[in-house]
Amino acid sequence: DGGTASGEEQAIVAGTAPGFPPFEIKEGEELTGFDVELLEAIISAAPGYTLEGWQEFEFDSLIPALTGGNIDVIAAAMTITEERQQTIAFTDPYYEADQSILVRAGGDFQPGQLGDLEGQAVGAQNGTTGEQVVREELSDVNYNGYGSYVLAVTDLENGNIDAVVLDKPVAETFAAQRDVEVAFTYETGEEYGFGIRQDASDLQSALNQGLATVQEDGTYEELRNEWFSE
Ligand code: ARG
Repeated sequence: DGGTASGEEQAIVAGTAPGFPPFEIKEGEELTGFDVELLEAIISAAPGYTLEGWQEFEFDSLIPALTGGNIDVIAAAMTITEERQQTIAFTDPYYEADQSILVRAGGDFQPGQLGDLEGQAVGAQNGTTGEQVVREELSDVNYNGYGSYVLAVTDLENGNIDAVVLDKPVAETFAAQRDVEVAFTYETGEEYGFGIRQDASDLQSALNQGLATVQEDGTYEELRNEWFSE
């Protein structure tokens, strides 16, 4: 439809980093997942904006892509952290997570706490809070950085590394699909937000309004039931 008295709708571009099931998934050529469907629902409910399309990046390229103007919003299960808030802004939180430690299913290495990872080869995706846990909470670990958690899980299955640290809902999804299992969970109390530029306060309010609407009208719960078993 055409513009209203208050002006045309503004088309925005979203960025994500697939390979993080069930939040962002590539099924053949199709990009899907909880974040993808949730952001699309939010923008439909957000006053003044439409979605022009999606672009894909490695996770640690998303913030530069946003600040450089290649994309307008990040939907990538991105944890709201003080460090990231130095550079970008976030919407209200839309999901909560802790970090889980994945090991080979039925393997000999069965750690029960973070300290048990000392001296081991531990993988995470570059630029994530999982990497931060490995680097900051452990002193004598052999950190293996990956562009995608899919590659880290493959290396774990193949015995090239001993454990992978990643967001609990994603760890549980890999455990259901691949030859890996959750050894234990380390509580970090993270909250995900959609990332926007610091000067984008109109977009921020519109997305927050859209998020509140989909939470009130049942769309959010429907998507949660669709993408998460529990
Ligand atoms: N929540 C974690 C973080 O913010 C991991 C996010 C990884 N997301 C992705 N789409 N690969 O660092």
